[in-house]
Amino acid sequence: ARITLRQLLDHAAEHGYGVPAFNINNMEQALAIMEAAEATNSPVIMQASRGARSYANDIVLKHLIDAMAEMYPHIPICMHQDHGNNEATCATAIQYGFTSVMMDGSLKADGKTPADYDYNVKVTRNVVDMAHWVGASVEGELGVLGSLETGMGEKEDGHGFEGKLGHDQLLTDPDQAVEFVKATEVDALAIAMGTSHGAYKFTRKPDGDVLAMHVIEEIHRRLPNTHLVMHGSSSVPQDLQDLINKYGGEMPQTWGVPVEEIQRGIKHGVRKINIDTDNRMAITAAIRQVFVEKPGEFDPRSYLKPAKEAMRKVCVQRFEEFGTAGYA
Ligand code: G3H
Ligand code: 13P
Ligand code: NA
Ligand code: ZN
Repeated sequence: ARITLRQLLDHAAEHGYGVPAFNINNMEQALAIMEAAEATNSPVIMQASRGARSYANDIVLKHLIDAMAEMYPHIPICMHQDHGNNEATCATAIQYGFTSVMMDGSLKADGKTPADYDYNVKVTRNVVDMAHWVGASVEGELGVLGSLETGMGEKEDGHGFEGKLGHDQLLTDPDQAVEFVKATEVDALAIAMGTSHGAYKFTRKPDGDVLAMHVIEEIHRRLPNTHLVMHGSSSVPQDLQDLINKYGGEMPQTWGVPVEEIQRGIKHGVRKINIDTDNRMAITAAIRQVFVEKPGEFDPRSYLKPAKEAMRKVCVQRFEEFGTAGYA
């Protein structure tokens, strides 16, 4: 059954678990998530970026979500817009059956340029008014996440939260978070706490304290009714890097967010954990392996089936590691 982000994360908070939010772009990814949820009896957050919506087509995505809900009527499914860039993106997502939207007003509508606080409040407040009228949930974002482009999110020793711009500009300010939630009434808040998007988060193996746990703890203490969201939460597993490189890939050595750090976050109010890169890597490793080992194959099912299976395994792991398993 369809469920909103607010309903799901309220339940998660009550029972102390986190929910992975996996990105989808196609049928194989949606099926991998649902098969993993079925195997572990987990509630689901599937999310589509703007790029996913234009890749798959809104109508295809709408019917894909409908199909998943029909196939797995006993599994709660939240369909979420990832990184909505303006009011229109969020409104049309809801029209296509999404039960939750992220209005990422930390960036301007181009999705790249950092926006100022007043813009963020205004655009997020607009989306909350619209979404709550029709029973959808809203995730906002405060603070600028590290990214490959800006080189934020890491320092020399592989720690996460003191990047090149320094603490203050990287981490969400708790006072401002309180003010932002009061002004916008978002259901969930993505905060900057030391992670960044993509595969290249840290150039050295992080040795604990990847996340700014003190910031998470303080924001959670002051906003106990606002569910915290961690973007950039892929762990970038070594075995997947090795597989990709074994079968002809060229990924430089890199480190992601250790699962134990995410588990610490979950103890302090992190409820939604965004994961895309790990699944991309699992899919790519599996496809590369088939291409190398069976160069005569040309039926897409011969590599898409193992790709789906590889993503399913990652999803099962995360459902178990985050404590989601058993709560469907
Ligand atoms: O935050 C970004 C997600 O990994 C989705 O990426 O915009 O390339 O679809 P995308
Ligand atoms: P990763 O790149 O770490 O998987 O993060 C995905 C994400 O935050 C999507 O919004
Ligand atoms: Na999101
Ligand atoms: Zn993100």
